[in-house]
Amino acid sequence: MALVPPLLRIMAVLAHSLILLIVFSPSAHASGVKAPSTITAGQNATISITETIPKDSENWSKYDGYRLYLALTPPGWGTGPECWLANNLDLSPQTVNIVIPPDVAPNNTKIEIADSFIKKGSKKESGYSYSGTITFLGGNGTWSQRELNGRSMTNANRLPCFLLGCVRQCNDRYYTGEKSSEKAADDCSEQCLKNSGESSMGHLSLVALLMGIVTWRLAQLVL
Ligand SMILES: *[C@@H]1O[C@H](CO)[C@@H](O)[C@H](O)[C@H]1NC(C)=O
Ligand SMILES: *[C@@H]1O[C@H](CO)[C@@H](O)[C@H](O)[C@H]1NC(C)=O
Ligand SMILES: *[C@@H]1O[C@H](CO)[C@@H](O)[C@H](O)[C@H]1NC(C)=O
Ligand SMILES: *[C@@H]1O[C@H](CO)[C@@H](O)[C@H](O)[C@H]1NC(C)=O
Repeated sequence: MALVPPLLRIMAVLAHSLILLIVFSPSAHASGVKAPSTITAGQNATISITETIPKDSENWSKYDGYRLYLALTPPGWGTGPECWLANNLDLSPQTVNIVIPPDVAPNNTKIEIADSFIKKGSKKESGYSYSGTITFLGGNGTWSQRELNGRSMTNANRLPCFLLGCVRQCNDRYYTGEKSSEKAADDCSEQCLKNSGESSMGHLSLVALLMGIVTWRLAQLVL
């Protein structure tokens, strides 16, 4: 399972526009996730999840939890989830304390929090609901060239936000601006997950696992 889905960020733009349409059309429900207007890096922030699934809905049997994401807007591009902040939350309206690491974005950047219904333990998600714009203070991240080119670096369902800085370093190191260089950056990013032990939570196929061992060996030589 590759860290990066074969999706352009433009897909996220479209999805987000659709959600905005739904959220702001007069008959629609309000967004399912609420956040403070300012969040400071490294400090607790309280997020409220308000949406739920009616027991008589076909979705009641499909989903049993939430995942909470950090959504970023690289300059000139649309907003999309980049990594997760909280995972496998129980499926009932609740408040969650999250801490956003400083290296996810530059200081004074507009971010959003997103949530999605999930089946706990699964990497899939059901579509995103967004908080609305939040000012992120105290950040010290720098956009990678890949983000500035509007290319997705991550699969937000797999990447915990504390590893986003590691993924950016991989892209700074291997991404040349050519699409063909993305594979090397992604292999390096996969290493960020492996080194943190996160990948053991994924449903990696045996092939992916074997390839991971090979890339791990290579990465040991390269890094
Ligand atoms: C942040 O929230 C956690 C609970 O999620 C709490 O244990 C911790 O003391 C809080 N830290 C601060 C600085 O408020
Ligand atoms: C971050 O941006 C805010 C708002 O512009 C500014 O007040 C603050 O000094 C900046 N912090 C750093 C560390 O640059
Ligand atoms: C089930 O969930 C999907 C994805 O969130 C949503 O598009 C759909 O409207 C939901 N169906 C019902 C009946 O709630
Ligand atoms: C950002 O700040 C954190 C905490 O002060 C520090 O550990 C980290 O090295 C900094 N990262 C960058 C990219 O400057």
